[in-house]
Amino acid sequence: MKPILVVDDDSQMRDALKEAIQRLGYEATVAENGQDGLNKMANTPFAMIITDMKMPKMDGLTFLKEVRRRVGNLPVLVITGYGTVENAVEAMKEGASDYLMKPFSFDKLNAKISSIMEAMAADREIITGNPKMVRLLQIARDVAAGDTTVLIYGESGTGKELIARYVHRQSLRKSKPFIAVNCAAIPDNLMESELFGHEKGSFTGATDKKLGKFELANEGTILLDEIGEMPMGLQAKLLRVLQEREIDRIGGKHTIPIDTRVLATTNRDLIKEAAAGNFREDLYYRLSVFPLHVPPLRERPEDISLLADYFVRKFSTLLNKEAKGLTDVALDFLIRNQWRGNIRELENAVHRAVLLSRNPLIDVSDFMLDELPQQQSAAKITVSQDAGKRGIKEMERDLILKTLEDVSGNKTKAAKILGVSVRTIRNKLNEYGKIFPDD
Ligand SMILES: Nc1ncnc2c1ncn2[C@@H]1O[C@H](COP(=O)(O)OP(=O)(O)OP(=O)(O)O)[C@@H](O)[C@H]1O
Ligand SMILES: [Mg+2]
Repeated sequence: MKPILVVDDDSQMRDALKEAIQRLGYEATVAENGQDGLNKMANTPFAMIITDMKMPKMDGLTFLKEVRRRVGNLPVLVITGYGTVENAVEAMKEGASDYLMKPFSFDKLNAKISSIMEAMAADREIITGNPKMVRLLQIARDVAAGDTTVLIYGESGTGKELIARYVHRQSLRKSKPFIAVNCAAIPDNLMESELFGHEKGSFTGATDKKLGKFELANEGTILLDEIGEMPMGLQAKLLRVLQEREIDRIGGKHTIPIDTRVLATTNRDLIKEAAAGNFREDLYYRLSVFPLHVPPLRERPEDISLLADYFVRKFSTLLNKEAKGLTDVALDFLIRNQWRGNIRELENAVHRAVLLSRNPLIDVSDFMLDELPQQQSAAKITVSQDAGKRGIKEMERDLILKTLEDVSGNKTKAAKILGVSVRTIRNKLNEYGKIFPDD
């Protein structure tokens, strides 16, 4: 894993940032100003850069421009002083990935770093061997060139956001900002300001002017993620923005022309939502000029093994483990699973298995819960999110029952095949309310 470069002239800030980064599990290298940062870059490849704006010798903006000249796609998070929105805008124009305004909480910093690192990982590769997906990527490339709105739809975890980033990267806007807004995560009453910005004093709590994501993504691309969650009132405003290509900041006196390409994703059936009165039909037609359907993983069996192998290698490197691949039995087990949480669920399952495995090949038992040594339980909680956990539980249940059937209910034999204790099998059967006579 490459380290993160921190550039700040304030030594206390430097140390605090370094500590926060290390706590997230990344290495950090520090530099005192832009010039120092460039020198460090000459010797070490970095995963991302976090830089202050106001610094002696070489300020953040000059540094950013120089970084962009050297490495096109290295993510840069800029830290700007309180109330200097213009600086942030300038930095975004020069290709910063995101910005943080002082003072900020460490939670906020962590969230920004994590989302940048994730986006970068996602940007690297789209793995597929499925004809439908290959065709989809072809269409995505064709449609990328224009400025049409694209609606990417499919079940959750199928890779919709990945495809959206792909469209941006294949477009003429690729060196300009890509900004994703998760409509499901923003409270309704804040969404308008989040999208279109507001003027100072336009409502209680608007202590400063704020630019919306549409403006920040100017010349680039905005992704309206989970657009089905957008409140009706705002849908009307969005429709107007798409038609007129201009926005109104809340409390603003003039409309502002924008040149932002709009991509949207949804895991809902928007036609049905429209029929039920939850989504504007006119907005649906405006958005789905180009609809792209991402098929679920269970319809892409060839992708299960490709992705599983890819995730084994990815997490093995990331977690510094030996694992190189999967046993045939484990692979067969993965292929037979339903993957209702799709690729996200598969990714979580493999992540967890790599964490647990002690052998070069991941086996079926590494996908089992409850065989965790004590000290790994903390990792278990962070790795398997709820959805992932439910999926694994189901897989586990199927596996245990099927194995027992294969050995005519002999728990000792089943335990041996699965590499777990007989006690685990008994506990599991209790949990399922299944009775197999004791052997
Ligand atoms: N073809 C692929 N190759 C490699 N990784 C993939 C692929 N498709 C999805 N992923 C990974 O799976 C995870 C889920 O993908 P993504 O967030 O794009 O899905 P989504 O459809 O937007 O999901 P949600 O509906 O939950 O928001 C991400 O970590 C992504 O990097
Ligand atoms: Mg998504």
